[in-house]
Amino acid sequence: QENSFKDHDEYQQAADWLLAHTKHRPQVAIICGSGLGMLAEALENQDAFNYSQIPGFPHSTVQGHAGRLVFGQLRGKTCVCMQGRFHMYEGHSLCKTTFPVRVFKLLGVDTLVVTNAAGSLDDSLKPGDIMILKDHINFPGLCGLNPLCGPNDDRFGPRFPAMSGCYDAGLRCVAMEIGKQLGITAVMREGVYAMVGGPNFESIAEARLLHKLGVDAVGMSTAPEVVVATHCGLRVFGLSLITNKVLICSYEDDQSVDHEGVLAVGRLRAQTLKTLVTEVIARMDVN
Ligand code: 6GU
Repeated sequence: QENSFKDHDEYQQAADWLLAHTKHRPQVAIICGSGLGMLAEALENQDAFNYSQIPGFPHSTVQGHAGRLVFGQLRGKTCVCMQGRFHMYEGHSLCKTTFPVRVFKLLGVDTLVVTNAAGSLDDSLKPGDIMILKDHINFPGLCGLNPLCGPNDDRFGPRFPAMSGCYDAGLRCVAMEIGKQLGITAVMREGVYAMVGGPNFESIAEARLLHKLGVDAVGMSTAPEVVVATHCGLRVFGLSLITNKVLICSYEDDQSVDHEGVLAVGRLRAQTLKTLVTEVIARMDVN
């Protein structure tokens, strides 16, 4: 894995370039997961940039990820939306996958909304359900694959940041209230997300391990971005769209997951998710 640490100038250059190319001054940043790029469609008065235009931005290589940064207004809040994120499994260093988060901080963003597609390990979470992230298990991070490895830049945050409370309790509460108003509580609950490195889906034994550990949903993203966001003082709201059940049952079953299936569930629940995220952002008080 390539491992070049970024210095403050590189984040600043990207932020300065963006500030010079758009009049929007975002308060909220949204990272769209696999198949969830349509969240950006709700933005009004859009200014969009391909990642390849922005100094220092990595390039997205995954199908279902557009690779654009879209600025615009959403219910009175100014937002910036990543259509397509960077994953560890693409071979990017974690500093690269989380590069945009620090750029958002320098743009003046206050709150980060992260979304992802995830597999369910709990019977009560079915494909199409929405899980509000209450906490995460950062498996790569536990083994030292952490975007904060390397020299610490005190301008962003402390050497040893706390991760308790990294998913804002107030925003989780607002999301559940909005879920009630929308009549979708039957398909929505809080849970713990575990990040694994991917790109392969879990073996049956790995799935059983995650299940035994009490993981609710598993995916290949999000934790690094949340770690970097929490380090630099951003408030975080996260949600997973459950796209499939992780098979923990038997070696005789020959069902398996595939990326196309993950994208298809995204298309199915697109509207609900868009409404939920929009309403949560509308109710946020941002600085
Ligand atoms: Cl089953 N596993 C992982 N690691 N990521 C996923 C998934 C499963 N389903 C969607 N994303």
